[in-house]
Amino acid sequence: MPRLDGKVAIVTGAAQGIGAHYARALAEEGAKVALVDILDGTAAAESITADVPGADVAAFETDISNEAACLKLVDDVVARFGGLHILINNAAMFGTLKPQPFDEIDIDLWDRVQAVNVRGTLLMCRAAAKVFRPQNYGKIVNVGSDTILKGVPFMLHYVTSKGAMYAFTRCLANELGEHNICVNTLAPGLTMSEAVESWGPEGDHDKGLVIAARALKRPQVPEDLTGACVFLSSPESDFMTGQYVAINGGDCFS
Ligand SMILES: NC(=O)c1ccc[n+]([C@@H]2O[C@H](COP(=O)([O-])OP(=O)(O)OC[C@H]3O[C@@H](n4cnc5c(N)ncnc54)[C@H](O)[C@@H]3O)[C@@H](O)[C@H]2O)c1
Repeated sequence: MPRLDGKVAIVTGAAQGIGAHYARALAEEGAKVALVDILDGTAAAESITADVPGADVAAFETDISNEAACLKLVDDVVARFGGLHILINNAAMFGTLKPQPFDEIDIDLWDRVQAVNVRGTLLMCRAAAKVFRPQNYGKIVNVGSDTILKGVPFMLHYVTSKGAMYAFTRCLANELGEHNICVNTLAPGLTMSEAVESWGPEGDHDKGLVIAARALKRPQVPEDLTGACVFLSSPESDFMTGQYVAINGGDCFS
């Protein structure tokens, strides 16, 4: 039997990039999946429907930094799929950000990054908890980044927001444990998503350094992350919470 049979999942930031791969992997394991993004995710949802026999997925256009939008989204997902059991907080301001010295980051941009990456995760957790608590079950996977333990420079807005995911996950796991809700951080290393692939030649130097620091010396691809995402979403990890799981080919600095 598929590992997520009968489960309903939300994946945020799933119109493209790694989030679309998480959504596909969950659908392949039998979950019904809501692909949530500020962009139109219809094409990503149709692609999963076309490729995965029996898949039941749908796209929802939502800004996760908006509280009312998150509450409506969860209501709409429950109405469409009949429940909610899994929340993958993958959406973030990442691919559109450019490396900058910390004292040149526009303050409005700083605020927007925290509003999406941190407040958006909070709002999605609060909305989902309204369903998870009464059913005494839920799985929350917060997507972090292995940059937080390396102190990667020139992305202070982004890395700070991902550092928050580490603490957020630990605290929320302790608040929600009594309701049998698991909260974990999945922290990718540098991964060849569309956004990273689109970096210019100046990005090649950084990619080379990252690969050299790994035990497994090759580029990381989205498919390297989907196994952990499914595991953290499945009953196989039901006694695992508050953890930081780095998937980065064994980079020893994280
Ligand atoms: N690719 C990497 O190297 C890497 C490494 C570590 C962590 N991550 C994390 O993995 C996740 C996915 O990375 P990616 O490379 O696919 O990045 P990406 O920037 O391509 O994807 C992020 C997605 O989030 C969506 N999004 C942004 N703001 C939103 C909002 N307000 N509401 C709803 N959706 C919104 C975007 O439209 C986009 O589809 C991110 O959380 C990123 O921080 C990526």
